[in-house]
Amino acid sequence: MKISLDPSTQSNYYDVAIQHLLLDAEIDFDKELLFGAVEYKIQSARISQPLSHIILDTSYLDVKAVSLNDTSVPFRVDERRDFLGNALHVVPPMPIPAVDVATLRISFSTTKECTAIQFLDPQQTIGGNAPYMFSQCQAIHARSMLPCQDTPSVKVPCTFHIRSKLPVIASGIPCGTCDFRDDSLVYMFEQPLGIPSYLISILSGDLASSSVGPRSTVYTEPDNIVACKFEFEHDMENFMKAAESLTTPYAWTRYDFVVLPPSFPYGGMENPNATFATPTLIAGDRSNVSVIAHELAHSWSGNLVTNESWQCFWLNEGMTVFLERKIIGRIQGEKHRQFDAIIGWGELKEAVELFGKDHEFTKLIVDLDGKDPDDAFSTIPYEKGFNFLYEIERVIGGPTVFEPFLSFYFRKFANSTVNETKFKNALYEYFKPLGLSNALDSIDWDAWFYAPGMPPVIPKFDTTLADNCYKLADVWVTSAKSSQSPDHFKQDDIKGWSAGQLSLFLDVLFETDAFPQNYIAAMDSAYSFSNSKNAEISFRYFKLVLKSRYKPLYKLVVDQVGKVGRMKFVRPTYRLLNQADHELAVRTFKKYSNFYHKICAGLVKKDLGITEN
Ligand code: BES
Ligand code: ZN
Repeated sequence: MKISLDPSTQSNYYDVAIQHLLLDAEIDFDKELLFGAVEYKIQSARISQPLSHIILDTSYLDVKAVSLNDTSVPFRVDERRDFLGNALHVVPPMPIPAVDVATLRISFSTTKECTAIQFLDPQQTIGGNAPYMFSQCQAIHARSMLPCQDTPSVKVPCTFHIRSKLPVIASGIPCGTCDFRDDSLVYMFEQPLGIPSYLISILSGDLASSSVGPRSTVYTEPDNIVACKFEFEHDMENFMKAAESLTTPYAWTRYDFVVLPPSFPYGGMENPNATFATPTLIAGDRSNVSVIAHELAHSWSGNLVTNESWQCFWLNEGMTVFLERKIIGRIQGEKHRQFDAIIGWGELKEAVELFGKDHEFTKLIVDLDGKDPDDAFSTIPYEKGFNFLYEIERVIGGPTVFEPFLSFYFRKFANSTVNETKFKNALYEYFKPLGLSNALDSIDWDAWFYAPGMPPVIPKFDTTLADNCYKLADVWVTSAKSSQSPDHFKQDDIKGWSAGQLSLFLDVLFETDAFPQNYIAAMDSAYSFSNSKNAEISFRYFKLVLKSRYKPLYKLVVDQVGKVGRMKFVRPTYRLLNQADHELAVRTFKKYSNFYHKICAGLVKKDLGITEN
């Protein structure tokens, strides 16, 4: 009987319960492969039914051998089914009795096509003298790194034994090294809490480390370590305390993270005990720390309480943005939370316009049957999800009434998975005894969950920190419309502004008509946006450059897009460059395609309409 709810896996996770995962593998930097074995402790998931068939996800893997309780058994790898990959079938010679725990060991190697792992040459690192590798498994790339039940609905405690000639980080607590041989060591990690496959991570390179709090260490290449320590040490423990006061005690013992080389495709990735982060966070002035608040918040929403499939991804990301902004609110003040929400609303509008307001992927709950979760990825689950929670908070009576629900929710669902029904029922379970079910009844649940486009309720945010941005933007627009010379704009206009305020200013301008080119030039002379140390600012400015077709700065734009692989910046830049100069966009992409992570390169290729390999 098939009760599969997750359309993004071919595994029969509803038949096979996994008790433990041991990844016992070696990194080969020369061949750019990971090879070894994964060993599962498995059991029938069905009461009193023996286990007779095991199906795991694989993608571009070379499966070499399978054994069950140390006896070799036959296996079959199906034809590839597009992004779902190849199902691996193991049929035990004798069904495994219902209560028995068996050891399933699969020897394998990754291949050149592996979508999860990126290998970097020494020249692609800061130090320039050692290679580097890292994985990115979310959403469904874990299957290209190891055979697994690649669904977030399955959570398994893990042990990682990774041999490498360079230091290794993985998604667990480091337990030392052993077995020195041929210039390499085995690095050992334990993850006692059950984690879904998408949170498995491995990274290896020339790493230095520095403490950034009593429970936190940052890792990065040696030349970068001082800057990283400065960027995060001020906030890390404060974030952790604020998050704990909103939710439950931190369950993962330590919060450590790695600042990666620039091709890392995301802002951050919440791998347990080993968040991966983009180096674009290092602005020198701590202005991007909210990304770490976000990844830390995933320690509760996502890692402890996990969306059961990628169709309800908003329960991971919307809830995390909500917590991230609560943390920022607690530390910097409520006005900052409100300000971040305003920025988010703008991003939501832009994303809905890009997909089109009737598009399936503008819904909070999406149908991923036959669809690649990477294609569905956007800011919509983040910001529509945030606004949904913000609205529930308002309807129920504000933060003091709503916040205690958060600790109830994380306690109730810790170490398990959720969907929208469980979430809604939990709200009623908590608020009904408080006499607040009428408030919940007034929410249009169906519209929030299933209607496409912008949210059914337009939120109200405090604009105190945004008003200056709107005012200055207005002066620019009016001045440009009246064809005045732009010479009157001066550095002083933005004196004391935060990076966020500059970002909002640029976002507002981007929403208006294209600016005259002398205005684009004058903006850079007055405010020096093009060489901002904060990539949030330079990329936003470059969007205006491209929208206004200001050719003298195309070279800067193209150089920048070849230095940073974070998709949040790279994809919109290529989309706009493509509209401005298709030929230049394609030529630039081809020049840098090996620099980008495969996930990023694949999506940009689709965005640019490039079909050949
Ligand atoms: N878990 C996500 C990154 C992700 C999502 C990777 C889906 C692969 C598939 C991470 O927590 C995240 O949301 N990162 C954001 C930063 C955040 C501050 C919004 C990013 O990468 O920009
Ligand atoms: Zn996130």
